[in-house]
Amino acid sequence: MICVPCTVIAGAFWGDEGKGKIISYLALKDKLDVCVRTGSVNAAHTVWFKGKRYALHMVPAAFVFEKCRLLIGAGSNVHVAQFLKEVEETNVKERVGVDAQASIIEEKHSEQDKTSAHLKGIGTTGWGVGPAIEERVRRTAKLAKDIPELKPYITDVAGEVSNAVDANKKVLLEGTQGLMLSLFHGTYPYVTGRDTSAAAICSEAGVGPTKVDDVLLVFKAFMTRVGAGPLPGELTKEEAIKRGWFETAAGTGRDRRSAPFNFEIARKAVKINGATQAALTKLDSVYPQCKGARSFDELPKEAREFIVEIERQVGIPVVLIGTGPEALDIIDRRK
Ligand code: IMP
Ligand code: MG
Repeated sequence: MICVPCTVIAGAFWGDEGKGKIISYLALKDKLDVCVRTGSVNAAHTVWFKGKRYALHMVPAAFVFEKCRLLIGAGSNVHVAQFLKEVEETNVKERVGVDAQASIIEEKHSEQDKTSAHLKGIGTTGWGVGPAIEERVRRTAKLAKDIPELKPYITDVAGEVSNAVDANKKVLLEGTQGLMLSLFHGTYPYVTGRDTSAAAICSEAGVGPTKVDDVLLVFKAFMTRVGAGPLPGELTKEEAIKRGWFETAAGTGRDRRSAPFNFEIARKAVKINGATQAALTKLDSVYPQCKGARSFDELPKEAREFIVEIERQVGIPVVLIGTGPEALDIIDRRK
């Protein structure tokens, strides 16, 4: 079973695996009670809902289920203006909370990202997340509780989640980016400013490891990366376009580089995240006949074989399969 009571969602590659889509599906399907976002404003989680596209940098992707409590954990780093803008856009004022101890990212951090030569070389998103976290580590950062505009939203996220888990509510911890961008386990120095693994997601939310039942690892049917750093099997842009794998970043609009699915990286991600289940998104980009399919049996033979091969090579079941952009374009193989 998934999401009862507590599941972590993590990315397997370099982010942009489609976590936003998977979370929005689970929110609607499983009627999630609580969703905690971790990380910072650099990540854009794309959610298509009722024909509208949202690229969420702050608000948890589970907002699509109107009864879900939305939280931003203590380990997160909040961009106040972006947060307030998204709260308006998604109309979640009454049900969103920010931990008192979440730290704040400011305009000066973005300037530092954009003007520092070595960070430019890494190809950061330019939001300033690395510099903001540096400031937190120096113990000079502002915290959410210091910001007057955040006053109505301030809460104790770890406390809320602990109560929810004890009451057997459905809780999802929403990771950002993917394992290969982890400060510890990724392709250093071409990484983001924090660990992106499942354990770090729990830590940022304030949830102990024994409280977690499932780790759902999200793979895309091919791999993409924005910014610099290694990408095994990288295709030319021309080849990516030909295959229908060419994408641009939801947050920054930059070209995404692409490569075929890599089983070695997938196995590493399963191991380090302690993943119990996998989701595979964008199957329809690799096998166009899959578009809109809602059952495994509808898939063409090669697509079914690809999934069976992933399960064989990584050792966990692929329980959710994305076949289109809308939240409900999913094959759900859970019991
Ligand atoms: P930063 O996190 O903005 O410092 O960027 C560091 C590296 O992580 C760069 O290669 C970025 O392109 C990449 N990165 C950061 N956030 C995301 C994301 O949400 N999706 C994909 N790449 C990301
Ligand atoms: Mg993204």
